[in-house]
Amino acid sequence: MTEKPAKRLFIKTYGCQMNVYDSARMTDVLAPLGYAPASSAADADMVILNTCHIREKASEKVFSDLGRVRAFKTARAAHGKDMIIAVAGCVAQAEGAEIMARAPFVDIVLGPQTYHRLPEMVARAARTRDGKGSGILDTEFPAEPKFDFLPAPRADGPAAFLSIQEGCDKFCTFCVVPYTRGAEYSRPPSDVLREARGLVAGGVREITLLGQNVNAYHGAGEDGETWGLGRLARALADIEGLVRIRYTTSHPRDMDDDLMAAHRDVVALMPFLHLPVQSGSDKILEAMNRGHTADDYRRIIETLRRYRPDMALASDFIVGYPGESDRDFEDTLALVREIGFVQAYSFKYSPRPGTPAAALKTQVPEDVKDARLYELQAILDAQLRAFNVACVGRSFDVLLTHPGRHPGQLVGRSPYLQAVHVMADPKHIGTVACLTVVSCEPYSLGAVWADAAKDAVKTA
Ligand code: 5AD
Ligand code: SF4
Repeated sequence: MTEKPAKRLFIKTYGCQMNVYDSARMTDVLAPLGYAPASSAADADMVILNTCHIREKASEKVFSDLGRVRAFKTARAAHGKDMIIAVAGCVAQAEGAEIMARAPFVDIVLGPQTYHRLPEMVARAARTRDGKGSGILDTEFPAEPKFDFLPAPRADGPAAFLSIQEGCDKFCTFCVVPYTRGAEYSRPPSDVLREARGLVAGGVREITLLGQNVNAYHGAGEDGETWGLGRLARALADIEGLVRIRYTTSHPRDMDDDLMAAHRDVVALMPFLHLPVQSGSDKILEAMNRGHTADDYRRIIETLRRYRPDMALASDFIVGYPGESDRDFEDTLALVREIGFVQAYSFKYSPRPGTPAAALKTQVPEDVKDARLYELQAILDAQLRAFNVACVGRSFDVLLTHPGRHPGQLVGRSPYLQAVHVMADPKHIGTVACLTVVSCEPYSLGAVWADAAKDAVKTA
């Protein structure tokens, strides 16, 4: 029997970790059709742009990338070869019809909830494609959850993502996610546990649970009870071989007592939490419809640190939300100084069409936003550096995940999600090593085996 020649699939992923996960699942779902990953779009049989819509200029970026992909498609056609072009993700969800109209060479437009139907769409595209706008558009929110139709993901290295929750009902006034990802949905705990066991059997040691609102998780248990994230984390921690659990991204409103207590009780839950606060001003938090105050946030951090004194915090910030005064911005800086973040993403507010804040008349001038962002980022950067410097001389567990760029080097993650480099035999990949940090780069740490550390620290 002759083997079918492999077709090549290239996926470009924009945006968040949910999209990284979705791209991996699209690869899985297309594998039975003979698609194997390609290293570039130019010579791929299928190209998928898995897009993100969260901030401004998202669709322009997609259209300009589509222009480049179209040139590859034309070049291939000259050699009698085909290329299927698909646009997936949140831009596809929000602007599907416009993509079909402006880029008729696109064969498939699909939303984040329909990629389990991708094989069927590819088959249809192969039959009907004529380059004149007979493309396939599937941006439904189907009743059947896609997870029920996806193959079990394979482990690819010692650290894996696992999507447990999708969508958002919070409707922060600046955000497009509730419109592109739909209502909140939590996968049942039995599905999550099954997927996690499969990953661990394949060598995974660290699982990052994903969701737009991951700590709003409320899975329907087989015991008839609704499981929150705290309970799920406890059950996952019982899986032998799973030594690290993380979750992202969380909302302060869903940081319930059980989840916070899990940080005290569950050793596998890593002491690092990405908990976006967006602003330190109560006026702005209210206008954003965040549903909590700056003091509520402070209290959550205080409790978490009581339970886990080494808890490291990360956050997202928006500066220049409509109506943000100098005073409001000062409140954000005060909160940042007080809490101390080890990692942060900060953005200038950008109006997203269709969201309530975009229509407000009190938009902040661009130069004010620029100045505020600059000031905030200087403080956040200094905090990140101070944290990394303070790690020098300390020893902690590092999960070694892959070879580094230099020969003989391995890369891993600290409990606080820092990248750590160490000279070590590749046989240690997939193990948790106790390393001592001896040096600090802007965005990574250098380490040695803990028992070899004394001299290294002295000479560093
Ligand atoms: N403008 C600027 N930043 C935004 N974010 C979401 N929407 C907007 C917007 N309209 C940021 C928030 C969120 C992160 C993923 O992106 O900080 O937490
Ligand atoms: Fe967007 Fe707010 Fe939902 Fe986060 S909680 S996804 S910022 S609407």
